[in-house]
Amino acid sequence: MAIRLGDIAPDFTAETTDGPVSFHDWKKDSWAVLFSHPKDFTPVCTTELGYTAKLKGEFEKRNVKVIGLSVDPLDSHEKWKKDIEETQGQAVNFPMIGDADRKIADLYDMIHPNASDTMTVRSVFVIDPNNKVRLTITYPAATGRNFDEILRVIDSMQLTDKYKVATPVNWKDGDDVIIVPAVDNETAKGLFPDGWDEQKPYLRVVKQPGK
Ligand code: BEZ
Repeated sequence: MAIRLGDIAPDFTAETTDGPVSFHDWKKDSWAVLFSHPKDFTPVCTTELGYTAKLKGEFEKRNVKVIGLSVDPLDSHEKWKKDIEETQGQAVNFPMIGDADRKIADLYDMIHPNASDTMTVRSVFVIDPNNKVRLTITYPAATGRNFDEILRVIDSMQLTDKYKVATPVNWKDGDDVIIVPAVDNETAKGLFPDGWDEQKPYLRVVKQPGK
């Protein structure tokens, strides 16, 4: 069954390039990015894995752990990792799940048979510290994902959790944000003592808190 926003991310055990992982125990109180790629030794995936590894410091700043998956076995991942380091100038520094029996791919509905019977599509699941699924993204095999965008969405979700603000179209870190509709004006006075720009009763713009 498809996994929807707000669902508890299904738990699993897996063999990874960093040893066995029990997913919920492994992520503990962190956020997690679980992402699948179609196949080992493919060009787009090679660039994605190298770039994601380069973002390690950015993920750590946000308390996010990263884990990749493809339906190839671990020995294949280990060989491919050498190519990734050689071509992308960056070693993979997060676990890659070997899911040759497709157990986790099926659990997370990462195989879309009308796209391919055998390969996982490019799925991304962002899971919060309470194990709730907060973001799902599905890209086709031939289109590389934008991992800067994934960081941007994580920033937005963490701002919402901490400050009860939403982020407008094309928001970037440091831009103004919007008080969430669930916060009434009385409560907002306590949360945003410097006030806000009320463009409409439902559109209340404030400076990004915590900046
Ligand atoms: C790739 O990762 O490069 C790729 C995989 C499947 C189809 C097309 C591209």
